Amino acid sequence: MEFILDTANLSTIEKALDLYPIDGVTTNPSILAKEGAIDVFAHLKAIQKQLGPDRSLHVQTLSDTAEGIMAEAAVLRQHLGSTVYVKIPTTPQGLKAMKHLHAQGVRITATAIYSKLQAFLAINAGADYLAPYVNRMANLDIDAMDVLSSISAYIANAQSSAKIVAASFKNLAQINAAIEAGVQAVTVDPSLLDAIFSSAPLAKAVSDFTRDFEARFGSGKNLTNL
Ligand code: G3P
Repeated sequence: MEFILDTANLSTIEKALDLYPIDGVTTNPSILAKEGAIDVFAHLKAIQKQLGPDRSLHVQTLSDTAEGIMAEAAVLRQHLGSTVYVKIPTTPQGLKAMKHLHAQGVRITATAIYSKLQAFLAINAGADYLAPYVNRMANLDIDAMDVLSSISAYIANAQSSAKIVAASFKNLAQINAAIEAGVQAVTVDPSLLDAIFSSAPLAKAVSDFTRDFEARFGSGKNLTNL
């Protein structure tokens, strides 16, 4: 399982990388726009520096033609190098671009997936990651977990190396269900990761241990200063 951050906020990324075992960052145009009037490529380079060489960065194109998407992919790779994943909406023109870019060895994340067949076509077009939108599907009364399970079975049957990076989560139950449906990765707003640890019983368990130990061995005592 890969845990990926769905944000472009530098301080949020820094904090999450410090705390959690994180495998990468995904962005989309709306997420980048939230950061204000940034120099987009300088900002993406800063994220890339935070991530280091072993974590993935996924950046989305905006053009609605295959030619435009391929031109954006070329510029993106000029700025960020060949390790960047070019995130492409899974439209007919997007699939055309994926086929050509895959043939050139470009890393691809197929995004905006709301249906099984979008994902199946993206796999055949050479996508490395597939990003189904879990909460947005749920909002449309689409059974997102059925979609994830079918994509997972398709990958297994095709013996494909493509990975599902489930996206668009609004609660922890959706993340758990996606993982149980067999995805290889989830991309999550870091505030949802923080929410995992927000339960009062967890905080109480930790503070009770400290209280009991200090009552016996002295205030401020721990394994370093007995
Ligand atoms: O990366 C894009 C995807 O996560 C969309 O999420 O929260 O806008 O539905 P959301």
